[in-house]
Amino acid sequence: MKTQVAIIGAGPAGLMLSHILHLQGIESIVLETRSREAIEATIRAGVLEQGTVDLMKEIGVGARMEREGFRHEGTILRFDGIDRRIDFPELTGGKAVMVYAQHEVIKDLVEARLASGGDIRFEVTDVSVHDLDTTSPSVRFRQQGGELQTIEADFIAGCDGTQGVSRPAIPKGVLKGFERLYPFGWLGILCKAPPSSDELIYALSDRGFALVSTRSPDVQRLYLQCEPTDKIENWSDDRIWSEFRARLATRDGWAPKEGQIFSKTVVGMRSFVTEPMQYGRLFLAGDAAHVVPPTGAKGLNLAVADVRVLARAISQFYKAGQEDLLERYSETALRRIWKAQRFSWWMTSMLHRFPGADEFQHKVQVAELDYVTGSRAASTALAENYVGLPFDALE
Ligand code: FAD
Ligand code: DHB
Repeated sequence: MKTQVAIIGAGPAGLMLSHILHLQGIESIVLETRSREAIEATIRAGVLEQGTVDLMKEIGVGARMEREGFRHEGTILRFDGIDRRIDFPELTGGKAVMVYAQHEVIKDLVEARLASGGDIRFEVTDVSVHDLDTTSPSVRFRQQGGELQTIEADFIAGCDGTQGVSRPAIPKGVLKGFERLYPFGWLGILCKAPPSSDELIYALSDRGFALVSTRSPDVQRLYLQCEPTDKIENWSDDRIWSEFRARLATRDGWAPKEGQIFSKTVVGMRSFVTEPMQYGRLFLAGDAAHVVPPTGAKGLNLAVADVRVLARAISQFYKAGQEDLLERYSETALRRIWKAQRFSWWMTSMLHRFPGADEFQHKVQVAELDYVTGSRAASTALAENYVGLPFDALE
């Protein structure tokens, strides 16, 4: 079979790329190893930058997000038992973020693709990419244990996340990886309880980091810094709540609203970037090319920013025969990626307790938080990164 763009992976990157291309009259086929039910139920990120929100509305997939998401106009940084608020619109000329779960974004994109006749193949196996350095690359895959099938395409988009086949298919020596591992992870929970706060709380305590987020009026999302290879079995519900109470305690006796925990996951934390993000007619986007620690809430947003650049470059190729945007895809995307890497690394370093850290380090972190929340210049720097830096001009 033939298509214009073969897309590997139905995460935010692959689905959004397929949808934007469709709006430009460009055909694609999306291959996904998991089932529709599985991708629509995987709990991951929750914060959408202003630019992601605007893009979702612009491409016609924002209606449910506008109804059910929560616009947050600020966030709380909690340290030394006190709260300091960062006001986003005030510091960024009116921008804010939307708390709307990644799997809801996935549901909206799948529905939009299928409603307009989009071709998404779920539960495929044996996906491999070929002839990348020619103008007719191809992808092979198997569906429901059947024969190997081949898609001939003009371009392949590798949107298959950290464990995909696209990046490893690029010949050795072409890519350079940049990596930083962190000596901690996050334990994330979902619980049935009313919101503990109107806005997200990022807390540094001498016991480590904690984050209070939300999903709906009766489901809450909270995270705790833990060991990078910690096991969920080590975390009884009692231990989790007692740790949240201790790390989130304020001088005026604040405590989280507790409820039944129905999901617990541990994620490791790392920063990773691969350069370049293209080889011949294969273009990498999202987690396939880079990973951020979650503290800045940038992972999903960066995936969306990549495909915005890639979709534009592909559409210019078909509309005007122009290849320069394609050639500059990595360079354009990487400028934003490195800024988001810097912000995520900085937020992570400021808000976590590093193993072996002494009181000096803790006091420097507290001083930094005091400065960041006390200086308008420093608060603005945090706010403009958190709501998302402006997109670069695409031409
Ligand atoms: P993905 O969402 O990973 O999508 C890739 C898709 O490709 C998947 O559906 C996968 O099944 C599919 N695939 C893989 N291999 C193949 C193959 N060979 N063939 C076909 N399909 C394939 N970010 C935050 O900002 N905050 C968070 O709290 C947060 N929590 C996270 C928790 C977890 C457990 C993980 C893994 C990530 C988290 N992230 C978080 C990061 C964020 O979710 C990602 O940055 C985002 O999902 C990137 O989107 P993507 O489309 O590039 O990749
Ligand atoms: C959420 C995740 C993040 O990584 C973050 O920084 C804020 C909120 C969340 O899942 O709600």
